[in-house]
Amino acid sequence: MDRKVYENFDFSLAIDALEKGDPIIFPTETVYGLGAPLFNIDAVRRIFSIKGRPTDNPLIAHIGKISDAKSLSDDLPTAFYTLAEAFWPGPLAIVVKKNEKVPSIVSAGHPTIAIRMPSHPIARALIEAFGQPLVAPSANLSGKPSPTTLADALEDLNGKVNVAIDGGPCDVGIESTVISLVHEAPTLLRPGKITKEMLEEVLGVPIALPPSSGPVLSPGMKYRHYAPIAPVRLVYKIEELQGPFIIPTAKSLYSQLRHADRMGMELIEIYCDITVQSDAALMNRLLRSAGQIG
Ligand code: TXA
Ligand code: MG
Repeated sequence: MDRKVYENFDFSLAIDALEKGDPIIFPTETVYGLGAPLFNIDAVRRIFSIKGRPTDNPLIAHIGKISDAKSLSDDLPTAFYTLAEAFWPGPLAIVVKKNEKVPSIVSAGHPTIAIRMPSHPIARALIEAFGQPLVAPSANLSGKPSPTTLADALEDLNGKVNVAIDGGPCDVGIESTVISLVHEAPTLLRPGKITKEMLEEVLGVPIALPPSSGPVLSPGMKYRHYAPIAPVRLVYKIEELQGPFIIPTAKSLYSQLRHADRMGMELIEIYCDITVQSDAALMNRLLRSAGQIG
């Protein structure tokens, strides 16, 4: 999609809603987001209530240019700039120390803030037109698969939001990679399209995985997630499939899960072939949908 197409796009309805503190639905390259002004505490509160989101799960700040990160953190390490220059705009959220201006409801009381600069031309033009960072969780009811089309977002949030922008199907289809820079070693909190190997190559140091015990570093990862209504069964051997099945890709998984629910399927069988198994981010979401991790 050409960004120029959106330069003269009329965002006035969206901007009016944001200025009133009304959350809006908008597309990003990963999944649709439910956006609100980061510095408007009431608007941020509404995001939690619209989604039914636990208040101990922090939100990601969406910014329009790298320098906007300085309004959120006084402590941006060199690695932050290295990652931002290599991967932004794009599907990477970077956790750094927050400053005192970031409302604690945004960070769910943590001293840190996750920041990302989305690459979707509508998301970029919207944030630029609004002129302030937006917080934006995925635009689904908490626990459901993230929406990768506007129809999927409205399936969950119709009647709860006044403005929604359609950008067609999302390119990436699963949420951004989340990396934290506040620990001794950079730590991968959520796998995504930007892989651990890509991050290691750019940073030149090994990336740690969150410890399996001790305090939860990424609160969002502890809830049942990405889950359709029907139980999900992951199948690794083709001869063990019992009925109709899904072969997922990162881009298609969530819409396939939602479709299976709409069809009233009682069991969703997913065939994880070698290609699926070699995609760490996709396997992470599959295991969560099946309730096997998280
Ligand atoms: O791709 C995406 O990031 C999408 C689109 C809309 O941009 N947004 C998204 O937001 O996935 P959400 O709220 O559904 O997921 C945010 C994840 C959660 O797992 C949360 O725990 C983690 O990021 N997170 C946010 N702030 C954090 C922080 N300060 N420290 C650790 N983890 C954090
Ligand atoms: Mg989410």
